[in-house]
Amino acid sequence: MTHVVVVGSGIAGITAALHADAAGAAVTLVTKGALQDANTTVAQGGIAAVVFPEDSVKAHIRDTLAAGAGLGAPAAARVLADEGAARIDELIEAGVAFDRTAGGDLARGLEAAHSFPRVLHAGGDATGRAIEEALVARLRASGVRVLEHAFLIDLVTADGRATGVDLMIAGCRGILPADAVVLATGGAGRLYAHTTNPAVATGDGIAAALRAGAEVADLEFVQFHPTVLAGPACFLVSEAVRGEGATIVDAAGRRFLFDAHPDGELAPRDVVARAIARRMREQDGRPVLLDATSVRGADTAAFLAARFPTIDAAVRAHGWDWAHSPIPITPAAHYLMGGVVTDLDGRTSIPGLFAAGECARTGVHGANRLASNSLLEGAVFGARAGAAAASTGWPTVREPAAVVPSGASGASGASGASADIAAPPFSRAALQELMWRGAGVERDAPGLAHATAVLSRWAAAVRNPRTPADFEHENLLTVARAVVAAASVRRTSVGAHFRRDDPACRTPVIRSVATRHAPDSPESGTHVRSSAHVLQEAR
Ligand code: SIN
Repeated sequence: MTHVVVVGSGIAGITAALHADAAGAAVTLVTKGALQDANTTVAQGGIAAVVFPEDSVKAHIRDTLAAGAGLGAPAAARVLADEGAARIDELIEAGVAFDRTAGGDLARGLEAAHSFPRVLHAGGDATGRAIEEALVARLRASGVRVLEHAFLIDLVTADGRATGVDLMIAGCRGILPADAVVLATGGAGRLYAHTTNPAVATGDGIAAALRAGAEVADLEFVQFHPTVLAGPACFLVSEAVRGEGATIVDAAGRRFLFDAHPDGELAPRDVVARAIARRMREQDGRPVLLDATSVRGADTAAFLAARFPTIDAAVRAHGWDWAHSPIPITPAAHYLMGGVVTDLDGRTSIPGLFAAGECARTGVHGANRLASNSLLEGAVFGARAGAAAASTGWPTVREPAAVVPSGASGASGASGASADIAAPPFSRAALQELMWRGAGVERDAPGLAHATAVLSRWAAAVRNPRTPADFEHENLLTVARAVVAAASVRRTSVGAHFRRDDPACRTPVIRSVATRHAPDSPESGTHVRSSAHVLQEAR
């Protein structure tokens, strides 16, 4: 019997585990927190899918590829749109009570850059929580073994193939062998000082894949959500609020988004986020305002409380009566379009290693993800990866591309340390601030070069991880260096990757030669021997 280990417990991980289980594999799902500690749990707006007769797969594909700014993979978009309805049926069957109209039909939500209101939601704005709870219940009732609070230290490989995972559970290290490993570890929003992501989003799976030598691509495409309640909590105010008619105004009370795009508030997310960031700069950093006071006319307060109960409670807890006055909002890091390169069944460049969900890069999102396609991605590609991992054989795996020394890659400054750089001591907060300033909503060569040099210093200084928090620091550093390297190489602005400077460039794939030494190994002085990123032309 094939033993599959799935790492991660959001929609992609649990779906992969359930599908591998259904295919007859012996499945173990490991997750670093409790099962519900996943990005899925905090997803608000909904899940996009073609379930209404007036909608079409073709339209969903078109919207997905348009949002992806020309870099999306049509085959992946087709799979996503084609298989969405089946995954929605499965979620309903698992007990997800999507919101319905008074007539009993599924309620239709509209979000930015969708040509049709195809976004399903549950509990108003608690879609992710409803999905996670139903999937966790299904998982608990299945034959899948669950290991919570099990931190992924590294992938284990032998003869170029994934053979298990190295875990830390309650302070003890141990290897869990597997015939196939599915990474579903989510994104890395915690790279940034401002993010909608929960504390678990530290890029652990992507970092482990990089250390194992897997192909990783598109990490320069970090999506910044335009509307997060200003303040330390970074509370997400769903795009669905704008879908219901809320507007965005500057400090002078002027709507300004139509200056950036004909769709105004419902323009693609990257356009809105950038326009907001610029307007904030123009008004000395003051946040812009989301005005929901006219949504649904006279019934605004009742409507907002019923349609958006989670946001309503959070906004009010922060002292705002959003039915009567606009609320301050800013952009924050939200989603990583890039990740571990996979085919349409989750296969990575390492035999036996699969990836699905936000940590994977199928190419479906191109340079910018369409709103509410992420939960769908987790369901569709999680199911495919789980089924493929459960199969006993692997089709021919692509030969990994040849490794080119980073100095010869043309990625000047992408991985080199600068001797005279003034780097503050490493801390997670310092890294997050560095990334926000150097590789945030807008980037440029000097900012990226500075980030590169500082990260390089820190990589040499942070050594001998022993606790999960230490390992997270190491992972954040590894992924940060990869993001900055990718952003340095892509010198043109496209989708979510906006550079103030703009010469032509090619799409990079990043392969890492980063390796970790055991703390007690002879080379333990620098546990990341080299995190030089090898940049190669992919397309
Ligand atoms: C939102 O509700 O605005 C976020 C949904 C998404 O990221 O697709």
